[in-house]
Amino acid sequence: MSNTAPRKILVTSALPYANGAIHLGHLLEYIQTDIWVRFQKSRGHDCHYVCADDAHGTAIMLRAELEGITPEALIDRVSRDHQADFALFGVGFDNYHSTHSEENRYFSELIYTRLREKGHIATRDIEQMYDPEKGLFLADRFIKGTCPKCRTDDQYGDNCEACGATYTPAELIDPVSAISGATPEVRSSTHYFFKLPDFADFMHEWINDGHVQPQIRNKLLEWFESGFNEWDISRDAPYFGFEIPDAPGKYFYVWLDAPIGYLASFKNLCDREGIDFDAYWKRDSEAEVYHFIGKDIVYFHALFWPAMLHGAGMRTPTAVNCHGFVTVNGAKMSKSRGTFIKAATYAEHLNPEYLRYYFAAKLTAGVDDLDLNLEDFAQRVNSDLVGKVVNIASRCAGFIKKLGGGKLSAHCAEPQRLARFIAAGDEIAEHYEAREFGRAMRRIMELADEANTYIAEAEPWVLAKQEGREQEVLDICSVGINLFRQLMVYLAPVVPSMAEDARQFMKLETLAWDSRQDLLLDHEIAKFKPLMTRVETDRIDAMIEASKEDLVEEQKLKETPKGPLADDPIAPQIAFDDFTKVDLRIARIAKAEYVEGADKLLRLTLDIGGETRNVFAGIRSAYAPEALEGHLTVMVANLAPRKMRFGVSEGMVLAAGDDDGIYLLEPHSGAQPGQRVR
Ligand code: MSP
Ligand code: ZN
Repeated sequence: MSNTAPRKILVTSALPYANGAIHLGHLLEYIQTDIWVRFQKSRGHDCHYVCADDAHGTAIMLRAELEGITPEALIDRVSRDHQADFALFGVGFDNYHSTHSEENRYFSELIYTRLREKGHIATRDIEQMYDPEKGLFLADRFIKGTCPKCRTDDQYGDNCEACGATYTPAELIDPVSAISGATPEVRSSTHYFFKLPDFADFMHEWINDGHVQPQIRNKLLEWFESGFNEWDISRDAPYFGFEIPDAPGKYFYVWLDAPIGYLASFKNLCDREGIDFDAYWKRDSEAEVYHFIGKDIVYFHALFWPAMLHGAGMRTPTAVNCHGFVTVNGAKMSKSRGTFIKAATYAEHLNPEYLRYYFAAKLTAGVDDLDLNLEDFAQRVNSDLVGKVVNIASRCAGFIKKLGGGKLSAHCAEPQRLARFIAAGDEIAEHYEAREFGRAMRRIMELADEANTYIAEAEPWVLAKQEGREQEVLDICSVGINLFRQLMVYLAPVVPSMAEDARQFMKLETLAWDSRQDLLLDHEIAKFKPLMTRVETDRIDAMIEASKEDLVEEQKLKETPKGPLADDPIAPQIAFDDFTKVDLRIARIAKAEYVEGADKLLRLTLDIGGETRNVFAGIRSAYAPEALEGHLTVMVANLAPRKMRFGVSEGMVLAAGDDDGIYLLEPHSGAQPGQRVR
């Protein structure tokens, strides 16, 4: 590698929608891409990895409305959350931007006007369902009604989940807007279209030219047979997006400006770091551009996007690399089973590098779905990373400390074995390059097995007990550390944080691919610290439980579009540990009385089973004191006492309420004063 010029490589992952949390399904893509990027960087190439939030569209507009905040506030918050999640998993973007950015507006307008100048944009009036209450045109998935074929009700506007029929929303029986419940009307408006048929030959050639995987090519060819329609790229106001030039009230459809977000994010990086943008994107560029995506968004990336770029006089991607979907324990990720696992929830329970390794071990260059079987996951990580790889270092480090004063032998006792480990790097590199990460991991684990066998047969711990054989022990263990170093070079793209700890342990400057050529002789190493601990299965169970809980809140927000949540959105997430800090107890209201001079308060004497508390509660407007006496309720028992004008309040009772009323919480009968509530 060192004698060839570095390649110029730009890599992207799909831009996650800015209205939801990152989950393990997403992570397959970002981890796959990140491993490939880290590998390229390790090889010394000029590789840039960019991404962004996909911030536009109706869904984001409605979500913001539901939460009672502006779309800008929503996308800011989600962008921070996404970036925090990615950081936890070691996904090392060189830039993370937003499609709601000036760069993106610039490139969207540029590409659109170039297409228009060349005659590739058409306008035409179309009829569409319109929600008169919301003042909004409705995409198919925002319309519900009864299936015209099998008469199952509550079906979405384009297909029936019961009988599989497809239809247009106008054919639904008794259609309603899923947003407001109003009966939609048919209205006409002018739309802008990208004339895809102009590019049919181009696209056909492109997908046959090695830019997509064979399975994807076949799928796309099937689609070709059914012919092309023009692509509707406009949406009417109100819409959260960019207004189309010279078309007031018309906005670019989110999927028009989403892939352009790749350009925008890269431009933003170029401006910051002085990289030559055009060197990557001009038509005859020699730089390589790769998009990593999931199989659900292939049409946009392998047909529309190349056509847009080509039509606008820019280069097209070197390849679109598509992956399959994550399933958990053999089934689609499920909210009720707790297998719809958010990145943040996973990271609260388990080391993110376990997942990186597991995904790597199962990834191929194909588009098959990848099953995260949680038992296999624990077993594989424990046996490979902990049992095989870390074990090599932990068996050797102690002897080097003790017998060599922390220094490796000055000569190599196994030059041929090391030469083989170094040579294996070429084969492993080919697997990485081809995105055959599973093959790379298998080869690395074969080497790890060999290293362990070597140490087991040499038995340094036996020799160490015999007099005069210290040098031999040191030699064996020095070979062990050198083999371990090779393995960590090979694994570093997959487990960067473990590799960083290993680098410090071996006091190396770098774990770059070529650095493995020099053996570590007479080289000092640091004290060994465990580099990775075993997966504990009770952590997996806890993660599943937490995922079930996660979704209760989500669900509430979704199912109550017009409820109190619209004015009083759910507060930022807290960790379970934060919740357990609050000590909630069942309390019996022993006495309730008016407070002289306070028109909102009642003074409550609460019995929490062996202890009484004096609490002032702002519930006078809702309850007469005598009506409360003898009732049970729930109190916060460990709230710091608060001095009020009328005395000290030693806690708080729980009540639901807003301007419409106040409702004190009361447990079902049978609860005992003093019992903990959790
Ligand atoms: N915003 C679009 C992409 C625009 S790219 C110009 C989008 N966003 S997404 O958040 O729904 O998905 C982001 C990526 O995650 C997509 O490539 C998608 O295929 C991938 N995945 C989402 N769920 C997934 C699984 N369960 N499994 C594997 N990948 C999945 O699509
Ligand atoms: Zn049906």
